[in-house]
Amino acid sequence: MKDTIRSLDVARIRQDFPALNERVHGRPLVFLDSAASSQKPIQVLSALDQAYRTSYANVHRGVYYNSERTTDLYDQAREKITRFIGAPAPENVVFVRNATEALNLVAYSYGRHFLQAGDEIVLTELEHHANFVPWQVLARERGIRLKFIPLTPQGTLDLARLDELLTPRVKLVTFAHVSNVLGTITDPRPVIERAHAVGAKVVVDGCQAAPHMPVDVQALDCDFYALSGHKMLGPTGIGVLYGKTDVLEAMPPFMTGGDMISSVTFDSVTWNEIPVKFEAGTPAFVEAIALGAAVDYLAALGMDAVRAHEREVVAYAIERLTEVPGATIIGPTDPDIRGGALTFTIKDIHPHDLGTLLDREGVAIRAGHHCAQPLHVRLGLPATARASFYIYTELREIDALIEAIYKAKHTLRK
Ligand SMILES: Cc1ncc(COP(=O)(O)O)c(C=O)c1O
Repeated sequence: MKDTIRSLDVARIRQDFPALNERVHGRPLVFLDSAASSQKPIQVLSALDQAYRTSYANVHRGVYYNSERTTDLYDQAREKITRFIGAPAPENVVFVRNATEALNLVAYSYGRHFLQAGDEIVLTELEHHANFVPWQVLARERGIRLKFIPLTPQGTLDLARLDELLTPRVKLVTFAHVSNVLGTITDPRPVIERAHAVGAKVVVDGCQAAPHMPVDVQALDCDFYALSGHKMLGPTGIGVLYGKTDVLEAMPPFMTGGDMISSVTFDSVTWNEIPVKFEAGTPAFVEAIALGAAVDYLAALGMDAVRAHEREVVAYAIERLTEVPGATIIGPTDPDIRGGALTFTIKDIHPHDLGTLLDREGVAIRAGHHCAQPLHVRLGLPATARASFYIYTELREIDALIEAIYKAKHTLRK
């Protein structure tokens, strides 16, 4: 058993997360499902509370104090996120509801405007449905061919196959920066360079990366980067689509209505400037302000320290799980290329049964296909169990997980 982590003061951090003090089934909560959604610190909860309790008013509409103040806070949140992901300017940061909406925005607006029959999209075998189904629907509708970067036996992308996939017909390449199932961290830079060399645009699904490691979209040179606020300490209902200026400007709006217009007459309409062109209607401005508080929190910890902490947790979890008879880790076992999600199976125990038995011990993990059914088909597994970690995860919680797995095996006599 280990009990120290050098990179973050986890005991201190945990004091900021009231939900971690809850008990379930009379036991202390061991929350190991942050890849699905993270817990929220008091700083984010009070940003939400403050925004509703004090100068609450709709943004962009009023000439009075409350509306101007809330608009300022909303603009500041966009600036914070701009800095956090290394975007060149706030105009490159579009607020959306979540990564799913960000990816749909690209598929509907960019995909339907710039892609046509005979074009090809390259994606990967490990994508979350959010970065798979929008392309599948587009492909069917327009006669576009989808091609997949296959996986190596270790669960990394087989980039040796990339050159043969990258024909001049490829107009778009997309992949998860970090897989929500395999935990695989893909270095985006070489893929982006090679995709750009054939003139393709690149969409990175950063949902499992942005909360956990430093991200610099300009250094990556991706055309789009999608993330969800609720996985990175922020509230639900707010996410971000980063896009390069020229691409966002060339794209038609996704949804239309209030705010996103510049002027409307009975027979004409012109669009507002980016990013507002893509933000029709009243935005989730309170949630955006709270996401600003979330990135303040993460930036103060330092994203290098966040990654170092999770690397240590995942390394320890791999070490401990490897000792368990019948346990199989799915995906890379090298913590240097594995994010903070550890997916596994236990011989002769269905992941749902395991999840239910672990819950009785207060240990919350996820069981199922984790919104990646094609990947599970490729793996030949109907379902898997996943324990996922974050800034507040302690090594003793990994011990609690292992102990609960042994107890489940004992209960089921496996
Ligand atoms: C890799 C990845 N992409 C996209 C998503 C979709 O995120 P959301 O449901 O917040 O839109 C998830 C959520 O689990 C994910 O893990």
